[in-house]
Amino acid sequence: MPAVNITLQPRPELDASVDHAIQAIVAGAVVGETCNTDLAAGPWDFDTRPGYGPGSSMGDVIPTGSPRQGELPREYREASEAELDERIRAAKAALGDRVVVLGHFYQREEVVVHADYVGDSFQLANAALEHPDAEAIVFCGVHFMAETADLLSRPEQAVILPNLAAGCSMADMADIDQVEECWEQLAEVYGDMDATDAEGLVPVIPVTYMNSSAAIKGFVGRHGGIVCTSSNARTVLEWAFQRGRRVLFFPDQHLGRNTAKAMGVPLEQMPMWNPRKPLGGASVGQLADARVILWHGFCSVHRRFSVDQIDKARAEHPGVRVIVHPECPMEVVDAADEAGSTDYIRKAIEAATEPTTFAIGTEVNLVQRLAADHPQHTIFCLDPVVCPCSTMYRIHPGYLAWVLEGLVAGEVRNRITVPASVADPARVALERMLAAKPPAAPAAAWENAS
Ligand code: 13P
Ligand code: SF4
Repeated sequence: MPAVNITLQPRPELDASVDHAIQAIVAGAVVGETCNTDLAAGPWDFDTRPGYGPGSSMGDVIPTGSPRQGELPREYREASEAELDERIRAAKAALGDRVVVLGHFYQREEVVVHADYVGDSFQLANAALEHPDAEAIVFCGVHFMAETADLLSRPEQAVILPNLAAGCSMADMADIDQVEECWEQLAEVYGDMDATDAEGLVPVIPVTYMNSSAAIKGFVGRHGGIVCTSSNARTVLEWAFQRGRRVLFFPDQHLGRNTAKAMGVPLEQMPMWNPRKPLGGASVGQLADARVILWHGFCSVHRRFSVDQIDKARAEHPGVRVIVHPECPMEVVDAADEAGSTDYIRKAIEAATEPTTFAIGTEVNLVQRLAADHPQHTIFCLDPVVCPCSTMYRIHPGYLAWVLEGLVAGEVRNRITVPASVADPARVALERMLAAKPPAAPAAAWENAS
């Protein structure tokens, strides 16, 4: 493990910083736990390791072929937090409207302070769309988000991911070869995948979560399918059931299961597809009866939440309102009061008029920021271990300074470009999503009786 040498400086404006919390824990200044103390080191120390590195997805292995980050120049690795902050501000001021910086809700505070827009992946894709005049869009998120921004922005605009090693372990759980292979095997079970039955339905509509590669979005676009986000998954599944007998949902089994269950699909009609097994590990009978075939993928961050954590929160905070992200396992969503996307969680807290205690099941950076922004409420993360999404965490201010100063010098670093052969069908799948409208009385999220 690399040596950690930390001097804690009081930074009241960064009280909500998970980075500071981790550093304080590692330095022994406060009692607490991180998933792995390596998180306190610079991301450059583990960028080149053959895994996602420390954090919630440390057990997931980066697939071969994933983009890798070259070594960040020493001046950025060794600069203090204050120096990087100043350099980022200076570069942004020099670039003016030529650049737009987007920051995902899960980013560390030290990066979010420099973002022109902070939001979920869908809102940030829209922010990219709304800035056709910016020469560069610097996306402080993960790889699939930058790809989506590239799909939606003008071809002349450069979409930049400050650290190429900022992937998403869930997105990487479905690669295009596995999905093509799955489709071929399904065709052996269902016959002609383009043929409609007496009700005008094809055998399968593929649906991919936004958290997937552009190649997967392209596959879906080529096969009559659609993209969804955690805020419109129900609307998208309704769209799919109007066109197909069943849905193949990837990569997140939990979002697929939670959404379909809330729509009344029985669990027996949701077999799992494990790409490492013949027929995904399902029987021909199960596939024949299936309404939703769930890909064997998950988010390592949201998988950590448990019913025990919810029970503990309820015991310690009577009246607590528990809201979790639908990437959490079904038992957790069932035990919570509500489940919804990151934006749903944010809006639910903003809408609470009385001081309320909230226990939240999503990434800790967002929870800490919500707690800092709403001091009238008590807001805490269900998971007591300080452990952010380790892939998002790779966007350290050092990388942001490096790409911005590159732009000032006329050099575009870490541009993400989706090739046209993939981009065209992927755009079709995204456009279907944008056009899909909820039914007259939409269910905004899961509303479990509490
Ligand atoms: P959003 O779609 O809410 O931005 O979530 C992205 C994500 O990665 C959740 O884990
Ligand atoms: Fe991917 Fe999970 Fe991180 Fe979201 S929180 S970017 S799904 S690993």
